[in-house]
Amino acid sequence: MPLVDVEVLDIQRMSSGDHELDRVLGGGVVPGGVVLLGGEPGIGKSTLMLQAVLNMAAASPRVLYVGGEESPEQVRMRAERLGHVPPNLFILAETNVQEILKELEKNRPTAVVIDSVQTLYLPEIESAPGSVSQIRESASALTRFAKQHHVPLFFIGHITKEGSLAGPKVLEHMVDVVLQFEGERHHAYRMLRAIKNRFGTTAELGLYEMQGTGLQAVDHPSDALLGQKSGEDGLSGTAISAAVEGVRPMLVEVQALVSTAVYGTPQRSGTGFDLRRLNMLLAVLEKRCGFKLASKDVFLNMAGGLRIQDPALDLAVVAAILSSALDVPLPWGTVFAGEVGLTGEIRPVPRLTQRISEASRMGMKRLFHSAHARNVKAPEGSSLELIPVQQVSDLHGRLF
Ligand SMILES: Nc1ncnc2c1ncn2[C@@H]1O[C@H](COP(=O)(O)OP(=O)(O)OP(=O)(O)O)[C@@H](O)[C@H]1O
Ligand SMILES: [Mg+2]
Repeated sequence: MPLVDVEVLDIQRMSSGDHELDRVLGGGVVPGGVVLLGGEPGIGKSTLMLQAVLNMAAASPRVLYVGGEESPEQVRMRAERLGHVPPNLFILAETNVQEILKELEKNRPTAVVIDSVQTLYLPEIESAPGSVSQIRESASALTRFAKQHHVPLFFIGHITKEGSLAGPKVLEHMVDVVLQFEGERHHAYRMLRAIKNRFGTTAELGLYEMQGTGLQAVDHPSDALLGQKSGEDGLSGTAISAAVEGVRPMLVEVQALVSTAVYGTPQRSGTGFDLRRLNMLLAVLEKRCGFKLASKDVFLNMAGGLRIQDPALDLAVVAAILSSALDVPLPWGTVFAGEVGLTGEIRPVPRLTQRISEASRMGMKRLFHSAHARNVKAPEGSSLELIPVQQVSDLHGRLF
């Protein structure tokens, strides 16, 4: 068939009632779209999905939550904590896929959540629930139903310690959208990212804070992630980075602690930061700045416990390490945005204008950026000073 003859239907997206989730999905829930939500145990996957179905039930005739992990009483209790429980939200405690399909055929819900895909099984397959073949066959049977009847379907899946979706990677290929819910368990902040999205960009990011009443959207990440109070000089070892996660600019506090190693081999650890990248930056500081760090322990910490993957963090990491090693605090209002190369040069980063506006909006005083960046200018009426730096040694000279 000629491609031009294929009729294009205008997809009517449905809101999940959660603007962060809608944004990450690419503008709402797509009928017949199959979403896999992955995350570590206890991070809040069930909470996120239950909140979404509570909202969707307000706008849609029949929403179904299939829970194979928790009893209906447990789910009811959580729902009570999250908000009003509407009468058209149904729960099914079942893990047999054939039984689930029977219910779906009979009641035709308008949206379905399966918590979790690892508990599903098809009786005709011999292996145990959670095995690769069970997950693959169970998920594909339910996916077929979703596609046929244009019902949005959400699978919750667990992630192993190593970070892969437990069981089958195959599931990632089968579904339309793969979302990942992440954060440090002992911190309140959670990030929702799309790893794959057939209906939209994967650049969007959702940010939440876990509270007693559920997950609340964080609209202004910088306010939440800046540890220092405005106007107050920080302690040595802290630096602020103008980071961009997805398309959202946010100011993030980076903390470093450099101390003399007590044991033979110095320790290096990074919470929320890639350890290999940290080792690389330390090697650059050693070689290009003449900074002897070989006998020092170095600890690095991202405020809020978020794992931010922006290379522009490099410059703030370097500044925090220098500040801690010299025990000199950075003056208040200093922000960094630049990538550090192996030769010690500071490289330009994308979306610099957005980073500058965010720093300016937060009342920062000066921003260090790469001397190679083009078209750098502060927004009108802003008092933000822009300082180009070429090399890490320049940065060292300018700061201390
Ligand atoms: N009353 C409360 N106040 C604040 N946070 C709470 C409260 N009750 C639960 N939580 C948070 O919710 C988390 C559990 O959320 P949830 O059960 O949705 O996670 P999950 O990812 O589905 O876990 P599992 O892997 O067990 O299915 C807890 O780890 C805790 O951080
Ligand atoms: Mg759960």
